[in-house]
Amino acid sequence: MFIRKAKMEDLDQITALEAVCFLPTEAADRERLKGRVENFPECLWVGFDDYMRLICFVGGPVTKEADLTDDMYGDPSYHDPQGDWQMIFTVCTAPDEQGKGYASIVMQRMIRENKALGRKGIVLTCKKEKIHFYEKFGFMNEGISESVHGGAVWYQMRLTFDEEYHYEHMFDISDNPYENKQMFEEAFWGSQC
Ligand SMILES: CC(C)(COP(=O)(O)OP(=O)(O)OC[C@H]1O[C@@H](n2cnc3c(N)ncnc32)[C@H](O)[C@@H]1OP(=O)(O)O)[C@@H](O)C(=O)NCCC(=O)NCCS
Repeated sequence: MFIRKAKMEDLDQITALEAVCFLPTEAADRERLKGRVENFPECLWVGFDDYMRLICFVGGPVTKEADLTDDMYGDPSYHDPQGDWQMIFTVCTAPDEQGKGYASIVMQRMIRENKALGRKGIVLTCKKEKIHFYEKFGFMNEGISESVHGGAVWYQMRLTFDEEYHYEHMFDISDNPYENKQMFEEAFWGSQC
C-alpha cells in the first residue's frame, strides 16, 4: 500500500469508497468530501494499491474543540491547523481488502504524524462493535457521544498524547505480516507526504 495525503483527483475514488463502506445515512456525499479535500487535505490519508486503486481512507479536521460534534461533519470551517485535536470522521477500507491490516497501517501513520506535530491527541466516534479496534491503538472509550449521526449510537474514543503514551504501543498488533510494509513506508515518510 502506498500512503499519501488526499488530492482533488482522488475525489471520485474517495466518494465511491465512502459510499460502499457506510450506510447511506452515514456516508459523506461528494460535496461534503470535496469540502474536506479543499479545506484540510493534509489531514486526509489515502492508501492505494499498486494500481492506484484507493483501498483505505482515514481523516478529518483538526479543531480547537475537544469533542467531536455532529455540526462538524458538514462545516469544514471547524478546521484549524493550530488546533489541538485531530478529529477522525472516516476510517474505511475497501470491503474486499478488509482484515489485512490496511486500516491499522494508515491509522498508525495518522497517529504518528499527529504526535510529531505536537497535538494533544485524536478523537473519533464509533459504533460499539468497533471499540476494541480503536482500543488497540491506545484510544480510551469515553462513553456514548451526543452524536446522532445517521440515527446510530456512537461512542466517543480519545487517544491522548501524554508523557506516558508510547506509540510503539501500536505494534501490539502482533503477527501482522503487513508490518514489513509499514517499515518500508516509514522509510519514505516525509518525502511522500
Ligand atoms: C473498520 C474497518 C475500517 C477496518 O479496516 P481493515 O483494513 O479491515 O482493518 P484491519 O485489517 O487493520 O483490522 C481489522 C481486523 O483484522 C485484524 N487483522 C489485521 N491484519 C491481520 C492479520 N494479518 N492477521 C490477522 N488479523 C489481522 C485486526 O487485528 C482487526 O481485528 P479486530 O476487528 O478484531 O480489531 C473496515 O472494516 C471498514 O471499512 N468497515 C466499514 C466502515 C466502518 O465501519 N468504519 C469504522 C467507522 S467507526
